[in-house]
Amino acid sequence: MSKFKYNLAVIGLGYVGLPLAIEAANSKLKVAGYDINESVVDSLNKSMSHVEDISDKVLQDALSKDLMITSDSSVLGESEYIVISVPTPLTDYQPDLSYVETATKSIAKNLKKGQIIILESTTYPGTTLEIVKPILEKISSLVAGEDFLLGYSPERIDPGNKEWTFKNTPKIVSGINETSLKKISEFYNSIIDEVVEVSGTREAEMVKLVENTYRQVNIAMVNELAILSNMLDIDIWEVVDAAKTKPFGFQSFRPGPGVGGHCIPIDPKYLSFKTRQIGQPVRFVELAQEINNSMPNYVISRISELMNKKEILLKNSKILLLGVAYKKDIGDIRESPAIDIIESLLDKSVEVSFYDPYVDELIVNKQSIFKEQDLEGVSNYDMVIIHTPHTSFNDIDFENIKSLIFDTTGSFTILNAERI
Ligand SMILES: NC(=O)c1ccc[n+]([C@@H]2O[C@H](COP(=O)([O-])OP(=O)(O)OC[C@H]3O[C@@H](n4cnc5c(N)ncnc54)[C@H](O)[C@@H]3O)[C@@H](O)[C@H]2O)c1
Repeated sequence: MSKFKYNLAVIGLGYVGLPLAIEAANSKLKVAGYDINESVVDSLNKSMSHVEDISDKVLQDALSKDLMITSDSSVLGESEYIVISVPTPLTDYQPDLSYVETATKSIAKNLKKGQIIILESTTYPGTTLEIVKPILEKISSLVAGEDFLLGYSPERIDPGNKEWTFKNTPKIVSGINETSLKKISEFYNSIIDEVVEVSGTREAEMVKLVENTYRQVNIAMVNELAILSNMLDIDIWEVVDAAKTKPFGFQSFRPGPGVGGHCIPIDPKYLSFKTRQIGQPVRFVELAQEINNSMPNYVISRISELMNKKEILLKNSKILLLGVAYKKDIGDIRESPAIDIIESLLDKSVEVSFYDPYVDELIVNKQSIFKEQDLEGVSNYDMVIIHTPHTSFNDIDFENIKSLIFDTTGSFTILNAERI
């Protein structure tokens, strides 16, 4: 019988922490969800989920079982396991570990012998050993690996993905010593289908960065090839679709308006930050970032060209973005290329609006962008830019839209539409 009131406390109830807390409660663990944001805590306690993959009903069920949500950090001293899933953004283009540090301090103040701490936030190799461990030991005067256990487990959640969920996606786990690894592995094995152990926390931290750098680099490659193919008058989409029929040695990536979200544009920067400390750039990362970051401008140049051909002036034109989220079927606009595209259009005195069933409001350069509630008046726009391929857009009768259409996603078969 554990001496702790809760089996698990989750710090940070966002895209990563909330699904974990709920899955653990569904696996019959007693869970405390802790977040410093009072309004998040209040709405979650009213069974209102702010994470698309978690419906209000699923949240309500978990709350009626063994999930308790609070902004009171004292729960951290009452939980056997504690998972940290707070943001790790870039601030002034540098990794910002201040959220991880604050969360670690709140654990340290309550730390008890026998507790097991796991960092899940994405970060550069060395964070668990060089930042989290010293804070915990210094404030608590306890010894890591002996009095309390510590490890790292990267989160692989893919918001909006119905096939690969938190439960059936294999989970990488690590510990600062064998005892930590064993207990951490045991914990995830009780809630996740498959657990993969690696030898140390630095390796586990690196796994996450490798996964996202791989995506960032391959997306950049196909984006560059899309630009070059357009110049060569070759249809990149047909090429990619044909290439992916090769059953081995090729994984297809699709061109697009750039990369967004909290992982692909950011994680590779954590990697290059770390390698720069040893005087080495990650050349692939830097080139890939440059290419992906240039895609919103490429979209602008292509639509200007298209409008020119039709003798429509870009200045004072009316443009609608279909979808502004950074990926399909979710409402997350963090780092979305749509923001750069809109910023550039506003600079050129274009009247910009958007239609996105998942996004309620969009503010760019302190300006609120007009949201269309439906597509009734869509033909009044000079140009429609398809930015996000939400599944519900498959029902749109694109052929009856009179405006010019530029599809950055290549996801729709539309006669007369231009594509990236
Ligand atoms: N969103 C994704 O798809 C995804 C996927 C894999 C990994 N990650 C990584 O997981 C981590 C969390 O990302 P997210 O998308 O869940 O973030 P999020 O912004 O959705 O949620 C983070 C939550 O942490 C809370 N918080 C911040 N500081 C806190 C503190 N000191 N104590 C308690 N709560 C605190 C915030 O109020 C917020 O509710 C990041 O490192 C991110 O890179 C995200």
